[in-house]
Amino acid sequence: MRILSGIQPSGQLHIGNYFGMMKPMIASMAEHELYAFIVDLHALTSVQDAQRLAAGTLEAATDFLALGLDPERCIFWVQSDVPEVTELTWVLSCITPMGLLERCHSYKDKTAKGIAASHGLFAYPVLMAADILLYQAQRVPVGKDQKQHLEVARDIASKFNGTFGETFVLPEPVIDDKLATVPGLDGQKMSKSYGNTIPIFLEAKALKKRVMAIVTDSTPVEQPKDPEKCNLYNIYKLFAPPERLAEVHGLYVNGGAMYGKIKLELTEILWEHFRQARERRDQFLADPGSVREILRRGAVKAREKAAATLELVRQRVGLKY
Ligand code: ADP
Ligand code: TRP
Repeated sequence: MRILSGIQPSGQLHIGNYFGMMKPMIASMAEHELYAFIVDLHALTSVQDAQRLAAGTLEAATDFLALGLDPERCIFWVQSDVPEVTELTWVLSCITPMGLLERCHSYKDKTAKGIAASHGLFAYPVLMAADILLYQAQRVPVGKDQKQHLEVARDIASKFNGTFGETFVLPEPVIDDKLATVPGLDGQKMSKSYGNTIPIFLEAKALKKRVMAIVTDSTPVEQPKDPEKCNLYNIYKLFAPPERLAEVHGLYVNGGAMYGKIKLELTEILWEHFRQARERRDQFLADPGSVREILRRGAVKAREKAAATLELVRQRVGLKY
């Protein structure tokens, strides 16, 4: 099975991204053909600061590698290093009905949040469709918020196949409802745009500060509490070893759960959980050239696949004379 997904380099990666996207992607390397990439062209719709975009791209790639993505067992690259994607975007744009894009809520949501209403932001789903179709991906793991974009990609692929002849694989979204939506410090979904995240790679002091900022209620210690309603417990349970989790569950149900103590414990568990990744990350940070080299080699492999698809597309639509 060919699996493909991308992540925007638009801010520090957090434990929500880790559980929702990076961890399952890394796990899928064992059984599937994996295509993973950093979507810097998409990030350009919201990050318009050259230094920040370039540094964010390298940082996101470094983090993905540090967390265990093995470039020998997948194709890992930066979107803009394969310029074929922009040509395919144009071809697809010419068969994409305006109404299809007008119905997309992510455009409305983003402009409502203050992102400038550019043509790029409006056409974002066409670029995403090109990302997926260029590599003939069969499965695309994404969060719920991206479901509509996958439907747009399928609609565009069907329209193209119907107009010009069978060319593209129709991609299936993989939206795992069992995968936890990690809550943020305030209990809403953890998200860069809500400022409620626990970034994966923080200094020890900063990490402690973030964990201490998890919002809890003011029920007295000895009073029983429902663990599933506690934001702290819902983050804690993603990382705690099962026996200890059972003990803490007992403290919630029977009374005696001390939030301060659980927060300190969570800080330590998080620190240990990402220890190895942090060490690998430090090595990559000391040698950014090695990350660039991995991405360069990944782009060469991705381009081979992209060029073959684009060649076929050019023939199909009459751009070969
Ligand atoms: P953010 O909301 O922080 O901007 P993105 O929209 O860039 O995150 O999401 C990147 C990936 O991480 C997506 O696949 C998304 O489903 C996943 N993801 C983001 N936040 C969470 C969360 N709180 N819980 C689980 N998965 C998440
Ligand atoms: N739009 C996706 C997001 O914000 C990122 C993305 C771009 C993507 N191209 C993709 C995801 C192709 C999967 C496949 O999360």
